[in-house]
Amino acid sequence: MEAINYSEKIPNNVNLAGDRTLQRALEPWQPNNLKWWSEMGPDSAQAFDVYLRTAVSVDPSGWAHFDHVKMPDYRWGVFLTPAAEERRIHFGEHLGEPAWQDVPGEHRANLRRIIVTQGDTEPASVEQQRHLGLTCPSQYDLRNLFQVNVEEGRHLWAMVYLLHRYFGRDGREEAEALLERRSGDADHPRILGAFNEKTPDWLAFFMFTYFTDRDGKYQLCALAESSFDPLARTTRFMLTEEAHHMFVGESGVSRIIARTCEVMNELKTDDPARLRAAGVIDLPTIQRYLNFHFSVTIDLFGADQSSNAATFYAAGLKGRFEEGKRNDDHRLHDATYKVLEVRDGQLGERDVPMLNALNEVLRDDYIRDSIGGVSRWNKVIEKAGIPFRLTVPHKAFNRRIGTLANMRVTPDGRVVDDAEWQAHEREWLPSAEDRAFVASLMGRVTARGKFANWIAPPAVGVNKQPVDFEYVRFN
Ligand SMILES: [Fe+2]
Ligand SMILES: [Fe+2]
Repeated sequence: MEAINYSEKIPNNVNLAGDRTLQRALEPWQPNNLKWWSEMGPDSAQAFDVYLRTAVSVDPSGWAHFDHVKMPDYRWGVFLTPAAEERRIHFGEHLGEPAWQDVPGEHRANLRRIIVTQGDTEPASVEQQRHLGLTCPSQYDLRNLFQVNVEEGRHLWAMVYLLHRYFGRDGREEAEALLERRSGDADHPRILGAFNEKTPDWLAFFMFTYFTDRDGKYQLCALAESSFDPLARTTRFMLTEEAHHMFVGESGVSRIIARTCEVMNELKTDDPARLRAAGVIDLPTIQRYLNFHFSVTIDLFGADQSSNAATFYAAGLKGRFEEGKRNDDHRLHDATYKVLEVRDGQLGERDVPMLNALNEVLRDDYIRDSIGGVSRWNKVIEKAGIPFRLTVPHKAFNRRIGTLANMRVTPDGRVVDDAEWQAHEREWLPSAEDRAFVASLMGRVTARGKFANWIAPPAVGVNKQPVDFEYVRFN
């Protein structure tokens, strides 16, 4: 077999060419990864030339290169943010000690689990999104979808690099298993719930990249604090790409809203039936999608009280969001935090030890951040002179994980019984009819500079290219 030139195939700053052990580990994995990509990556798109950004260095001023590339030829690089000199652990029981350049034996199992759980989400989202290219609303959007997909593919590489480089044989087995699980598969599902849901249409895709990729941001930020330095440096670089994914989501929803408002003003109506007949997505349907994606995503942070979360923090494996900017003792033995509880059929709050509530701390940081984009969406509606406002549902709404899992709570935070839930569920979550309607709008627009009727064009193109640039050559 011809030797693979790794530095050519896999742009990297981890001295892949000089690491024989790592090369041997990657040799069987790489063809399996390509096989997975051709089976589970973007449907019927392998021959397209796509205007993609490729990570080619870690230089903040020029880390990416833009060009047309065939997707199987995409170069999935391995990059770690350069090591900070004498980085020290800055939280937990090892505070002040030098950061670990290797995996300490006693934390091996937990670190592997953290890396595998993060790594599993990356191919999962590619699988969830694989059919969307068949119904793209424009070349611009198709290119953005593929950009997100190839970068999630690179994030898979990033986690697999850590498994191969630092975890020996069990790392190799875990790396194989990452290619074997499938989103939504009854027998071999992906690890986390939200990554087994379908992403059937472009409204779902934009909501997913706004809300669920933002969960990715918060998880990566918590791991970027890790005492295990290679994990911290890997996730720090992944965050540079995550920003674009959330931009795709925020701007996508914003453009859908803009188009809906335009038609509302043309027809002088807010009647969902008339708007649907005009081929745009009514604002209440957008609200229901928002409710669904928000509630499913905040479950990803885990149970509101968790001894694992306490262990991960105390051991220095996973920090808080912006740990370094917080002014407390970074050990949290005496700190408390408020979590929700249900008492006598009412939602209330209760103080619990903060160490056990760190999932909730991260979830609340996430919620504060995700509200920002929703108010920017409302600005679009406000500017159009329409009185409707989107809202983020209550934290207890539609939860499947933690104390609130078996509760029926309305979007505005009232505890209700099953009968009331069932009577109103259609107003709060997308119904089968809503999804069928949105699906009915999903045609395929591929002409340069043309956009589907239900979405406004973006204000500017990608990488300073015009909006009607040839983003995808279909060949
Ligand atoms: Fe990712
Ligand atoms: Fe992402």
